[in-house]
Amino acid sequence: MPLNNAYGQQQQGYTNVDQPYSNQPFTSSAWLEKEQSRGKRSKWIVIGTLVAVVILAAVGIAVGVTVAKSHSGSSTKSGSSSSSPSTVKQDDPNDPSTFQKDDRLVKSFYGIAYTPENSQYPECGNKLEDVITDIQLLSQLTDQIRLYGGDCNQSALVLEAIKQTKVNMSVWLGNYPIPTDPTPYERQRDAIIDAIKTYGTDHVAGVTVGNEYILNWLTSNGADDPNSPIGNVGAQMLLANVTDTRNAIEALNLDKKIPIGTADAGSFFNTELLQNVDFGMSNIHAWFANVSIDQSAGWVNDFFQETNVAVANALPNQPKMFIAETGWPTASKDVGNESNGPSTASEPNLQIFLDTFVCQANKNGTGYFFFEYFDETWKDAQFGGVEGHWGLFYSNRTLKDIKIPTC
Ligand SMILES: *[C@@H]1O[C@H](CO)[C@@H](O)[C@H](O)[C@H]1NC(C)=O
Ligand SMILES: *[C@@H]1O[C@H](CO)[C@@H](O)[C@H](O)[C@H]1NC(C)=O
Ligand SMILES: *[C@@H]1O[C@H](CO)[C@@H](O)[C@H](O)[C@H]1NC(C)=O
Ligand SMILES: *[C@@H]1O[C@H](CO)[C@@H](O)[C@H](O)[C@H]1NC(C)=O
Ligand SMILES: *[C@@H]1O[C@H](CO)[C@@H](O)[C@H](O)[C@H]1NC(C)=O
Ligand SMILES: *[C@@H]1O[C@H](CO)[C@@H](O)[C@H](O)[C@H]1NC(C)=O
Ligand SMILES: *[C@@H]1O[C@H](CO)[C@@H](O)[C@H](O)[C@H]1NC(C)=O
Repeated sequence: MPLNNAYGQQQQGYTNVDQPYSNQPFTSSAWLEKEQSRGKRSKWIVIGTLVAVVILAAVGIAVGVTVAKSHSGSSTKSGSSSSSPSTVKQDDPNDPSTFQKDDRLVKSFYGIAYTPENSQYPECGNKLEDVITDIQLLSQLTDQIRLYGGDCNQSALVLEAIKQTKVNMSVWLGNYPIPTDPTPYERQRDAIIDAIKTYGTDHVAGVTVGNEYILNWLTSNGADDPNSPIGNVGAQMLLANVTDTRNAIEALNLDKKIPIGTADAGSFFNTELLQNVDFGMSNIHAWFANVSIDQSAGWVNDFFQETNVAVANALPNQPKMFIAETGWPTASKDVGNESNGPSTASEPNLQIFLDTFVCQANKNGTGYFFFEYFDETWKDAQFGGVEGHWGLFYSNRTLKDIKIPTC
């Protein structure tokens, strides 16, 4: 069921799995989101790309229907998932900084990707007490997290939770603009600026403007090369937002420089855009690329080095590149989507990925954000497949059956 974008063009019905606006018909490929490559730097990329085109054609209709269905029932979605913030005990119930540590948790991760529960505009329903629980847990695993968007007051909630828990945590704030509508960008920019004014910069590591913007832009225009003329048009649109955020932050006259960058699927970085950002964050998922678990950690590293780091280092400004998302799913809503070729979603496989990626990437000096903190029930409902099952924790904030590696 093809959807129409704001330009009236027909497009395939893919939905971006990170899409924070639950009622937006704006779409992209949930499947190849991350790995579809124009780079052709090595043979697995070429294979993945050929397969990608076939999947794009075959899967689009089914996903479109799924999305359409979930929209028709979306009015009941907000607040439907009940959380259990009591998973972390506090010595003083009124002082979140007195939380008790969980000895299964080890601070081994460079960073972790995080979206507070119920932060999908306009169905906001997030709660400070939940975010405090999340920060108490996350701070035992890492000292850096990244957000995807700035809606539903999530920037302030996270910074308030860091303040109350008194943990050593930095956050990469996020703005998730939509190419077809200036309002979401501006709304999130204002919320981010407000949060920085209120909480200062001590716990702000940077601001990411754009999440899979180029991938979405190309997909909705029937294109696939981020450096094609159409890719450059999208890049200039996003660059306007990047520059606007840079100016808004400079106008605050802060004592510290806040880096401004962008995040996209691994093969969708536009060079003109990269030349004008301080950093790039790249989504790299071996599971979507049909890579078996045994080869996944090395594959993610090779992909990142060849497709992202080498390219960025050749630019005059040499933007710092991070892996924005990498991880492994543990389950699928339906058995049929549990495996993607040789990649199988399971907790033992998440364990293998943890054991082969985390400490090795630390040692290699790779900046990465493990995907992700917990299972997201809204994604399971809206997209199905493995989308809602990438967490280290289940959605109820119970640790999965995994052992966190000690580096
Ligand atoms: C956003 O969150 C902060 C921290 O909890 C709170 O002080 C503020 O009132 C919230 N703003 C809105 C508009 O909800
Ligand atoms: C606090 O976190 C920052 C990164 O967010 C890290 O560089 C620093 O080493 C941490 N400090 C301590 C004492 O753990
Ligand atoms: C942000 O980008 C959108 C399109 O993506 C554009 O409509 C809007 O004008 C931009 N806003 C600013 C302030 O740059
Ligand atoms: C770490 O570096 C080694 C040597 O380059 C490489 O073989 C390995 O794949 C890397 N692992 C990760 C997870 O970065
Ligand atoms: C990847 O997995 C899908 C789904 O199982 C399959 O259709 C496709 O042929 C696989 N591709 C490769 C290159 O293994
Ligand atoms: C699940 O698998 C079926 C058959 O391969 C496919 O048509 C469908 O799009 C998949 N759904 C999701 C959400 O992955
Ligand atoms: C949390 O969810 C998991 C997976 O659904 C379940 O096995 C576990 O019993 C739940 N834990 C609690 C405390 O509810």
